[in-house]
Amino acid sequence: MYQVKPIAPDRLPALLRLMPKAELHIHIEGSLEPELIFALAQRNGLSLPYADVEALRRAYAFSNLQSFLDIYYAGASVLIHEQDFYDMARAYLLRAAADNVLHTEIFFDPQTHTARGVSLDTVINGLHRACVDARTETGISASLILCFLRHLSEEEAFATLEQALPLRDKFIGVGLDSSELGHPPEKFARVFARCRELGFHLVAHAGEEGPASYIWSALDVLKVERIDHGVRCVQDALLMQRLAQDRIPLTVCPLSNLKLRVFERLAEHNLGQLLDAGLAATVNSDDPAYFGGYINDNFVQTFAATGLSAQHAYTLARNSFEASFIDASAKRGFQDQLDQVLESFF
Ligand code: ADE
Ligand code: ZN
Repeated sequence: MYQVKPIAPDRLPALLRLMPKAELHIHIEGSLEPELIFALAQRNGLSLPYADVEALRRAYAFSNLQSFLDIYYAGASVLIHEQDFYDMARAYLLRAAADNVLHTEIFFDPQTHTARGVSLDTVINGLHRACVDARTETGISASLILCFLRHLSEEEAFATLEQALPLRDKFIGVGLDSSELGHPPEKFARVFARCRELGFHLVAHAGEEGPASYIWSALDVLKVERIDHGVRCVQDALLMQRLAQDRIPLTVCPLSNLKLRVFERLAEHNLGQLLDAGLAATVNSDDPAYFGGYINDNFVQTFAATGLSAQHAYTLARNSFEASFIDASAKRGFQDQLDQVLESFF
């Protein structure tokens, strides 16, 4: 592990922006900027219940997860054709590459689209083609993770999996998102067991608004490899020990937590506590178009508010590669690039 030299506080934002990193918790539908929502609505002949981009942006004032999800699913309704999914993913990938994201694992919510009559082929082919093209254009590496909506039934998740299987070479794993409270991980035990048999990587949102017990069941019932959010683990000392010992990554999203009122102030965020307890925490943007910032904004604002150090920055970037689903030699390659950038920064 690289020992980071002390750094003047005014140079920290530049380091945060410059360091190579992976983003592992980004919902592609949450990268849909109001400008693109309006452009796609026009292209597809749809009308929106907002006068203009600014009026839509003003509606982005959330009191909790559900108040956000309602507007997020409505925004996604402008996505109709394969090219729409392509354009959305391309915009995110170019933006991520500009933040020195070398690798990203992107969530998508197929049921949001299939419920409106959009085929799974349209969704996955559009997203996948954008990933392939962005690799050629910018060098960014990207893969897709299909998320089941937990407010729907396990039967519906099974039906989605069935429809997606002909496209299985275009996504690497499955996740679980949407309304957490009242929808514990064990509701999806059988479908996750099936996905595990099929060889998919497994992740789940847990401990965002839900209790620490949901993190336990994501680990022990669903057998996930990473926990998305997970910030409520601090309520359970035994769970903290388990996460640290097994190096279970947490994909933490500070600006999301602020906007959805998981923490009332960014200064109260527990990212430092998680890192200091030896957890493999990472920083991510979740739904950047809705929460006021992409990954580097999450780093810069959180470090400014909480006083985290350059050593924490390095640990977070290194964790992001460690926690990714790329092979061991690609991980080492990215981590070497990180070390080189830090070496030349000082
Ligand atoms: N879908 C998009 N963003 C989400 C979040 N933060 N939690 C749960 N589901 C989501
Ligand atoms: Zn999320």
